[in-house]
Amino acid sequence: MLEKGTPRFLPNGDFAGYVGIVFDLTDIKRGQERALREKNLENLRVLSAGIAHDFNTLVGAIFGEVDLALSDMPANSPGRENVERIFAVAKRAADIVRLLLAYVGDWSDDSETELVDLTEVVEEIVPHLKAPILRRAEIRTCLAARLPSVRGRMQQIRLVVLNLILNAVEALEGEKGLVTLTTAPVEIPGDSMEGSREGLPTGSYVKLEVSDTGSGIAEEVQDRMFDPYFSTRFLGRGLGLAAVQGIVHSHRGAIHAKSTPGDGSTFEVLLPVASNSPPADPRQMR
Ligand SMILES: Nc1ncnc2c1ncn2[C@@H]1O[C@H](COP(=O)(O)OP(=O)(O)OP(=O)(O)O)[C@@H](O)[C@H]1O
Ligand SMILES: [Mg+2]
Repeated sequence: MLEKGTPRFLPNGDFAGYVGIVFDLTDIKRGQERALREKNLENLRVLSAGIAHDFNTLVGAIFGEVDLALSDMPANSPGRENVERIFAVAKRAADIVRLLLAYVGDWSDDSETELVDLTEVVEEIVPHLKAPILRRAEIRTCLAARLPSVRGRMQQIRLVVLNLILNAVEALEGEKGLVTLTTAPVEIPGDSMEGSREGLPTGSYVKLEVSDTGSGIAEEVQDRMFDPYFSTRFLGRGLGLAAVQGIVHSHRGAIHAKSTPGDGSTFEVLLPVASNSPPADPRQMR
């Protein structure tokens, strides 16, 4: 609060009181904090892009050398196990570089875009989820059939679905719980408040929703969870949601989370329908 007061006096000089103004500066302060945060994130994005590109080249060179070394080594060679371990570590490094490139929205070295059906992506991923995940979570799906396609990069959209599922399962914190995956067509009409809330232009979108019955997300975590290297998990790197957000934004979509701490969370991704995609039939569900 900013308070300003001016004393007033009667014609005879007696003190009459104050005329005061009280400004509520909360919105201005929040706006300044948001602007500073966005500037810092932009700097971080530029730095990450540089590091990710350099490391991409270095990891590529390691792969090349390891490949050559392995092809020259007999199966029983004493050093072979070490070289294979170098290969495994380089693969982990490549995964991190891929997430960082996703975060900065750089796909220059990646495949072309194609028409992607989100329902098909979920249907492809769910049966291949590993046993430790399926032991901890019951996975339910509510998928729209004949969903309009989005134009995107299949590998990256898979990364989005997989990371949201993994986070949902981790949020169960070892307890048995439910993870629900939903796809549906969504219209954002011109006069909609929803449009402004999502910051998306009017149009047809496809929604992917991943909800869990897990721990929920504390408010201070909600503010930071999309930041790279922010994690509350013991083994977390904090790159999952940063990459997911980078991918969603580079596909001109939006992501937001709703959560009641202690009562689970829902992540909603909206991606624009490809312009040559057939119209949706929302009555058909799988
Ligand atoms: N479904 C969820 N429920 C509760 N908290 C979540 C959920 N999804 C994300 N979070 C919170 O957001 C943080 C950041 O998530 P993010 O996926 O970026 O990193 P991570 O899962 O910790 O590590 P990584 O994905 O790199 O292995 C998590 O550590 C967790 O605190
Ligand atoms: Mg994660």
